[in-house]
Amino acid sequence: PALTPFIDPLPFPKTIDVSNGEQVVIGAYKITQKLHSELPPTTLYAYGTSEQTASYPGPTLLATRNKPAHVRWENHIHDSETFLITDRSILWANPKKGGVPIVTHVHGAEVKSANDGQPDAWFTASGETGEKFFTQNYTYPNSQPATLLWYHDHTMGITRINVLAGLAGFYILRSPTEEPKNLPCGDYEIPLVLQDRQFWANGSINFPDIGNSPNHPNWCPEYFGDTIVVNGKVWPYLDVYPTKYRFRMLNGANARFFNLTLTEPSLKFIQIGTDGGFLPFPLNISSLTIGPGYRVDVIIDFSEIAPGTKIYLNNSAAAPFPSGSDAFLTKIPSVLEFRVVPKPSNVDIPLTYIPDSMIPTPRADYNLNENVHRMLTLTEVKDGEGRPLHSLLNNSRWDDPVTETPKLGSVEVWDIINLTPDAHTMHLHLTQFLFVHEQEFNQTLYEEQDGCTLEQPFDHPQSCFTAAPEPAGDDQVGWKDTIIAYPSKVTRLWTKWTTREGGPFSFDATSGPGYVWHCHIVDHEDNDMMRPLIVVYEGM
Ligand code: C2O
Ligand code: CU
Repeated sequence: PALTPFIDPLPFPKTIDVSNGEQVVIGAYKITQKLHSELPPTTLYAYGTSEQTASYPGPTLLATRNKPAHVRWENHIHDSETFLITDRSILWANPKKGGVPIVTHVHGAEVKSANDGQPDAWFTASGETGEKFFTQNYTYPNSQPATLLWYHDHTMGITRINVLAGLAGFYILRSPTEEPKNLPCGDYEIPLVLQDRQFWANGSINFPDIGNSPNHPNWCPEYFGDTIVVNGKVWPYLDVYPTKYRFRMLNGANARFFNLTLTEPSLKFIQIGTDGGFLPFPLNISSLTIGPGYRVDVIIDFSEIAPGTKIYLNNSAAAPFPSGSDAFLTKIPSVLEFRVVPKPSNVDIPLTYIPDSMIPTPRADYNLNENVHRMLTLTEVKDGEGRPLHSLLNNSRWDDPVTETPKLGSVEVWDIINLTPDAHTMHLHLTQFLFVHEQEFNQTLYEEQDGCTLEQPFDHPQSCFTAAPEPAGDDQVGWKDTIIAYPSKVTRLWTKWTTREGGPFSFDATSGPGYVWHCHIVDHEDNDMMRPLIVVYEGM
């Protein structure tokens, strides 16, 4: 259906304080919710403290640094199977008794693996559990720096379905002693989750479920919707006063990348933070490229904008990214409408400041001869007719023996070698990394037997590199847990298997079911673009 954009106000999820040490119970429920005023209610799966209060996005959890949060995750979805079709040909939870399995992961959290939402740690409403299930009672130590995290379902083989159905929410971690003072807060601090959806006229989600290859009858390589949904509303608007606002943005889409700009040329994004926390100093940026799973923390200063002005947050990213066809674009390029309105005389706008400096980020120091250097390929596998079957990490399936086993305390260099035509967002659990650089190479030569090598620098005669390394762009700096790996490029990451400050984790990271790393295009993640990640003791 053609939905009129910008007729619904931007909604804000309710908040739940999880910093007081008491256990909070959050269940997954099947609900209906109006996602646009011209659309009948949509059937969803949603998180909440009860069926009546469950919402999409789920309640925003407010945590404080060094105050552990205790969440009991429950599953109250009584469907015998997912209402968006499950593909039974891919490796998936596959409960014997049926039901909809869920398991919740707090994305970006430093947490022990038994509480990380391992894909095989799922459970159903009837009590059936996956082989890595340990508990429904999770403790988040919150011992890491302040940032925007998010929670979402992570069940083996149906993450794309459960997330598309609504199982996602914000998790805001604050650190009152470390955060810059006088940032916009309260009504002036606004979380924004950007997603795309397509709907049928009856309000239900249109989920194209005919696979591209008969080998996977109901799995599509990427889900793209023709509308943008922000905080659970299609193309909403937001009234803003002429002052500064802080936006905590999250790309929560299945597969869509965003390249965001503002239609008012005098306005910039003043970026102050990224996935893992604050940047060393604010950056003035006119466009933000954010892959699925990314968070960006930006201030937009509307102070000089005349009331009555409408400003659009626009998206120009191709889908699939970065060079896909127009078929997957949304019907309008805008994501959100800002309406600058006069400040009522009874409203006192607090004085807020953009800090000069925030939290320093270390140099990514490494030595390729001493530190573990992993070279990991991304490849797309096709069936005999050239139809996409799945994409793989380092040519390995999910259930192949674990190969990524970093030692606690060590520094590693990961080179992601993208041999596919599309960009992927690579995501590592447990750690935050730094993006060192990316470097273009000749893929055809590299893939030829006895071709060139990526082990030699650009100026070496045997090198496959076609250019010198390019350092991280302004909007890809700082602590990251997701990074865009572009086609025909090597993306180099620096990881340290310690806390950000360099100390030991406050929990045992080496026990339990272990962690994962994967592509955050969740359609890829569900079909084998995910691998185990097991942290081991130094000396093992
Ligand atoms: Cu946001 Cu492994 O996920
Ligand atoms: Cu991918």
